[in-house]
Amino acid sequence: MNAAGAMDRYAVIGNPVEHSQSPFIHARFAAATGQALRYERLLAGRDDFAATVARFAAAGALGCNVTVPFKGEAFALAAQASERARRAGAANTLRFDAGGWFADNTDGVGLVRDIGRNAGVAIAGRRLLLVGAGGAAAGVLGALLEERPAALVLANRTPAKAQRLLEAHAALAAERGVVLRTAQLDDCGSGHDIVINATTSSLHAAAPPVAAAVLRPGTLALDLMYGPAARGFVAWASLHGALGRDGLGMLVEQAAEAFHLWRGVRPETRPVLDALRARLATEQPP
Ligand code: ATR
Repeated sequence: MNAAGAMDRYAVIGNPVEHSQSPFIHARFAAATGQALRYERLLAGRDDFAATVARFAAAGALGCNVTVPFKGEAFALAAQASERARRAGAANTLRFDAGGWFADNTDGVGLVRDIGRNAGVAIAGRRLLLVGAGGAAAGVLGALLEERPAALVLANRTPAKAQRLLEAHAALAAERGVVLRTAQLDDCGSGHDIVINATTSSLHAAAPPVAAAVLRPGTLALDLMYGPAARGFVAWASLHGALGRDGLGMLVEQAAEAFHLWRGVRPETRPVLDALRARLATEQPP
């Protein structure tokens, strides 16, 4: 509640945005922590993101989440940014501070927490394969390296993009003692401990972009997508003895980090993840 007695407002802004689960997640967080706030969905036209955010902030809102395809633009709009947002060159969270908007990127920490706490898999000392070199991969690579895996292979359909991402993270990898290299999709090693699909292949209902040899029994194979889109990848992983997982846990964890940035309170994530999983279990592919 603000001084004028109105609810504090937040929103998720994207295009498309109608299927976003963020309003559900933040409403649960608010109820559980006793925070009075309203969280909306805002559709921005492809060329209208900056104006949409500006209108929302001018209406007295305190912050927003940003989703596809505006994360790069959101970062560019802010006056200040966290180191993790700078490293990704993208923001999924804005806080409308009076002295200038603050940009953060909570996707990477969300993924790392989901892997460590919810899936119960350690990253330190393990061999990782990150598939994809678009915005989603850029958003999580820094946080993965921070956890000090032994090695991280970065594979992408367009090798030049993987190379650019590697160059942007080479210093961090060296600092954390991680062997970071790029590879072709059809030659990216075998028997990794953790395989992360950060491509949009699942959205196009395409086959997993890498061969099953990248897995071993017990590999954690995680698609950053969730809902019906991720089911093919998760089934493929299970078929090969891996532990298939979708991006729902990451979604809830990145939201919790944004909630903390805005409200200074850290909500419990497990009950919300369970509720969301139950809610989406019956959803049919479009
Ligand atoms: P996002 O912001 O969600 O990451 P993006 O920036 O458009 O979206 O990146 C999409 C990623 O998925 C890229 O790594 C893309 O590979 P290219 O860089 O070669 O385009 C990858 N991708 C999309 N469809 C794919 C497919 N069918 N097989 C393999 N990779 C795919």
